[in-house]
Amino acid sequence: MVAASAICVFAQDAAYQERFRPQFHFTPERNWMNDPNGMVFWDGEYHLFYQYNPFGDKWGHMSWAHAVSRDLVRWEHLPLALPEDGDIMIFSGSAVVDTKNTSGFGNDALVAIYTGHNEKAKEQDQRLAYSTDRGRTWTQFPGNPVLKIGAADFRDPKVAWHEPTGKWIMVVAMATEKKIRFYGSPNLKDWAMLSEFGPAGATGGLWECPDLFELPVAGGESKWVLIVNLNPGAIAGGSGCQYFVGEFDGKSFRSEYPAVGAPHSQGESGMSHGVVLAEFEDFNYVGWTATEGEAFKGGAVHPEPSSDVRGFEGQGLADSFGGADEHQGVLVSQEFQIEADHISFLIGGGNYPDLMGLNLVVDGKVVRTATGNNSPVLVPMTWDVSELRGKTAHLEVFDRFDGTDWGHILVDHIVMGEEPPSPQSDGPALWADYGRDFYAAVTWSDIPRTDGRRIMLGWMSNWDYADKVPTTPWRGVMTVPRTLGLVDTRDGIRLTQQPVVELQGLWEGQPKSFPGGSFADAASWLASQRDLSELLDVEMQLSGVSGANPFEVSIQTGNGEATVIGVDAGAGKIFVDRAKSGASGFHPSFANRTEAPLHLNGGKLKIRWLLDTSSLEVFVQDGLSVLTNLIFPAPGPRSIAIASNGGSAPRVDQIEIHQLSSSWASTR
Ligand code: FRU
Repeated sequence: MVAASAICVFAQDAAYQERFRPQFHFTPERNWMNDPNGMVFWDGEYHLFYQYNPFGDKWGHMSWAHAVSRDLVRWEHLPLALPEDGDIMIFSGSAVVDTKNTSGFGNDALVAIYTGHNEKAKEQDQRLAYSTDRGRTWTQFPGNPVLKIGAADFRDPKVAWHEPTGKWIMVVAMATEKKIRFYGSPNLKDWAMLSEFGPAGATGGLWECPDLFELPVAGGESKWVLIVNLNPGAIAGGSGCQYFVGEFDGKSFRSEYPAVGAPHSQGESGMSHGVVLAEFEDFNYVGWTATEGEAFKGGAVHPEPSSDVRGFEGQGLADSFGGADEHQGVLVSQEFQIEADHISFLIGGGNYPDLMGLNLVVDGKVVRTATGNNSPVLVPMTWDVSELRGKTAHLEVFDRFDGTDWGHILVDHIVMGEEPPSPQSDGPALWADYGRDFYAAVTWSDIPRTDGRRIMLGWMSNWDYADKVPTTPWRGVMTVPRTLGLVDTRDGIRLTQQPVVELQGLWEGQPKSFPGGSFADAASWLASQRDLSELLDVEMQLSGVSGANPFEVSIQTGNGEATVIGVDAGAGKIFVDRAKSGASGFHPSFANRTEAPLHLNGGKLKIRWLLDTSSLEVFVQDGLSVLTNLIFPAPGPRSIAIASNGGSAPRVDQIEIHQLSSSWASTR
């Protein structure tokens, strides 16, 4: 008896104090969590349901667990809302307030619309459950399923009321077809198909967890945003969140950014027709010769499905890894005649312009060259070769780099054609987040007009390693809720994300402020800010940022571990390097670096970053680019250092460091 109560007291004391336990991000007390589900605001409460395994810390027995919050920061756990039901797992979906009682479930009933996953029948369909007591208890609709098409990969319905057409609209993913379907209903029970969208944008993996909403463009009219989460094939590898901006007329969605042409049915990468110069489908490099080194001696590479390498066509590709990153070599094609205007290909791997890449050689001279992107995801590139028509040429895939940091190049699907590849599928995609850990992101429904915000939440993990992260007794964490906006940029309309303002409720006391000065002044001021909390909200503003002065901000633990935010305006990039951030050995692709495009505003740069015990979220230029990454550093005080890599360092106009208190303190 005594021993039992002692254990109980200990368990309560230790709650939300465990190593790596996020202090201002949502986590379940214990067990596995993935996607946020059923996010809806009603009667002063933000509801958060989520994919949950009540029985363990790996995916399985999927059910909807439940929490509520009045401020999006402090959460109260409620009992399991929708448990697995016999053969039916409760997959992802959404919830709405049925204010007009269209469903007949009751006035202001909360209605959850979710995917029933039947593993035995290999079928997914859409189902309803409802609550008339503020989400505290739930009843399954006896007429389930409400939408069934006999498909195995038909999931993640997001429903919203569409006032102009007076009906409910559902967006739902045809995951393997890379399509979003639109359905309409007067009552949530009877659904009619309206249209389909896709494939488009990034299609290198399953399309999951869509969302559709209207959002004002700063200083302009509103546009519609279609969110399509993708796994794998995201910009940083594995799972991620892309979006489309355009128009929705109550029936179909038309994407303006990225522009999408007529549907076509070519290969996954959307490369145009033409003469295929290389597919690398055979295990040997047929028609190509490894003239130097050992990098290509093993033949074409056929990555395992679990590999990080994505975005190639078919099964095989050219890869200079050989047996190790240091291996070098050259792989040369047969001679061919340039008889069209474009040569297109897919390229990834190391970014070393003169040391590795793909060359086009005419009369012994390199006339075109391309290198990788420091990523395992191959991206399409095209050379205009119109002025070389009629010439005899050959291609060479080369790796003359002896280092290990991204020491190999990846090339596939080289095609010569009249037209550049269609941007229709796997063309340019827009990414909500450039980090490794932002997935299944969707938004809250029914936030009152008086508030007017559109708020998004993502699962802060990646299917590549989600069940290996070293946390216990829970596994899975959400990002901070983010307020969305649209801005008109030089490149078109883009999504912005900012942490919700309620987060400021966790700021402790006055910030530590650097009033502005030289880079060196700021560096020494930062060095004097010792013993910072593990929970930080930091904003830095700089001016005079240019290609001449790459610099780094490093967040340190004092034992040699550091997570680095790097700004390289010359390359147009901002990156987060977590290679030395702490524990990373649990998965080979965890120790990595992710990068986002950097849009400088007349040399001005604003970075805000949120540090929790096991994550770093970086919001660049008021959330125009975001990088979200998990990290697992040692506990203890943090320090921040900045260093400039040369040239004339930028000026630091301001630094504000807020230390945060734990959002769980009041729960305990
Ligand atoms: C996305 C996802 C959804 C599915 C759920 C199952 O992470 O695969 O498509 O509904 O997780 O847990």
